[in-house]
Amino acid sequence: MNVVALPAVKGDYNLTNYDETYKHFDWKDVEKEFTWSETGKVNLAYEAIDRHAEGFRKNKVALYYSDDSRDEKYTFKDLKELTNKAGNVLKEYGGVEKGDRVFIFMPRSPELYFALLGAVKLGAVVGPLFEAFMEGAVRDRLEDSEAKVLVTTPALLDRVPVDKLPALKTIFLVGRDIKEDEKQIDFLKHLADASKQLELEWVDRMDGLILHYTSGSTGKPKGVLHVHNAMIQHYQTAKWVLDLKEEDVYWCTADPGWVTGTSYGIFAPWLTGTSNVIVGGRFKPEDWYKTIEKFGVTVWYSAPTAFRMLMGAGDEIIKKHDLTSLRHVLSVGEPLNPEVIRWGKKVFGQRIHDTWWMTETGAHLICNYPSMNIKPGSMGKPIPGVEAAIVDDQGNVLPPNRMGNLAIKKGWPSMMQTIWNNEPKYQSYFFPNGWYVSGDSAYMDEDGYFWFQGRVDDVIMTSGERVGPFEVESKLIEHPAVAEAGVIGKPDPVRGEIIKAFVALMDGYEESDELKEEIRQFVKNGLAAHSAPREIEFRDKLPKTRSGKIMRRVLKAWELDLPAGDLSTMED
Ligand code: WT7
Repeated sequence: MNVVALPAVKGDYNLTNYDETYKHFDWKDVEKEFTWSETGKVNLAYEAIDRHAEGFRKNKVALYYSDDSRDEKYTFKDLKELTNKAGNVLKEYGGVEKGDRVFIFMPRSPELYFALLGAVKLGAVVGPLFEAFMEGAVRDRLEDSEAKVLVTTPALLDRVPVDKLPALKTIFLVGRDIKEDEKQIDFLKHLADASKQLELEWVDRMDGLILHYTSGSTGKPKGVLHVHNAMIQHYQTAKWVLDLKEEDVYWCTADPGWVTGTSYGIFAPWLTGTSNVIVGGRFKPEDWYKTIEKFGVTVWYSAPTAFRMLMGAGDEIIKKHDLTSLRHVLSVGEPLNPEVIRWGKKVFGQRIHDTWWMTETGAHLICNYPSMNIKPGSMGKPIPGVEAAIVDDQGNVLPPNRMGNLAIKKGWPSMMQTIWNNEPKYQSYFFPNGWYVSGDSAYMDEDGYFWFQGRVDDVIMTSGERVGPFEVESKLIEHPAVAEAGVIGKPDPVRGEIIKAFVALMDGYEESDELKEEIRQFVKNGLAAHSAPREIEFRDKLPKTRSGKIMRRVLKAWELDLPAGDLSTMED
């Protein structure tokens, strides 16, 4: 590979010498930075909030929040009190105890963060749900996790099939004029009255912290369980990768419904005592630049689709804003095009640093560091303390420049603990010799840089969101007109991929654009807007194996005009 690397930028970084650190680093040394290394009992919310509220960061701004109607800031002391209050409300009116699943389904607002950390303080397992989820998606998650408590808003309550969720005992509503009954509780009213003192639940490091549901190529979304121990890696990567320092103002654009929005929207910045900007509302390029200018954002973490959309909005609006506060920009979720990196360099004067990880891995694994040369298009190198390799389908490590499975040696601190209710699924991620298999294909060059090539499975990454084709297909065939459906990711210059569905209609239905739109809306209303196919193509028949499985590989070949490969298992 002949890639011209962007040279490292001189500066005083938290990770100054990657190679040396990689050689000598031991995770045990990071534990010493936490109080629990002595007591043995831990709570991430204590380390992220209370510890700072009791020390010199007491009056430091922890949270800058803004959306169309609110503009607020909270110090670490404020957050300690408000999360204590939220914990008291959840305990008193919802009976929340250690290990209970508490789901939070609401748009970004300060209360979302109070509730989330309040629940963590009680030792509960939190399940944050993206606000765009519709009934089917909400139900799958609450059902599988047997959530006992839900925090939501009156507007979103329609999408919660309360009658069908026997485990769900209490619903806290965040809003005005809430009518209470034995199941429905007014969250804000009780938050105002609650005590600021809370008896924190001290848990074991391997006790559950958070459940993030994510998609694979088969089956329903699965609950990835993370534990308090993950904080070791959240904290350390906040230093090495985000390069956070005392005076930084940090902004992560991800919603806490996705793992980036919790690991790096909540835990990493607050574990390091950093001022964290959280912005609600929809994506508007101009507003994003305003956010950077208004808060003087220094470290900014976003995603390729967002950068491409900003790029598409033109450089003129950038010139209207003062973005000189920015000193470090990062990206995650999909391949970061070299073109976008060059654009970032031009308009922000910053190299955009790609980072690679997954819901299952809980935290950064392969990254570009400020003190390192960047090869545009490469995901970078494994963080110290993590061993990454390219392995073949038997788990043998391959030499440089050979494509294969991107794999990580089991045992990094933020590794998922299990798949909820599905230990066999968890086990299936690992080769017997201890490699975690990511599902991505990649290669490593002779300098140890990793290069993403694609997914090994049929998982679709659209606008940085991970969508399982099976889930969309299942929803499609619930529509009365749909006999068969196959769903693939179709390459798209802005969104990375878009969802394309091939549909065979039931007898008696006519192909029409209206029907396409109706089917699209059906998926959108049943799952979520980002899961709805942007393109639908009708076909008389779909390619299937003899055992009846839709052959997405063949659909992809149709779409891209490629040879379809081995068709020996296809039915006649
Ligand atoms: C999949 C995981 C946790 C971050 C948000 C996504 C893709 C992630 C990169 C990157 C190319 C990337 C992979 C991975 N992905 N980061 N830097 N370059 N692809 O988490 O929803 O669990 O998806 O996102 O395919 O397997 P996720």
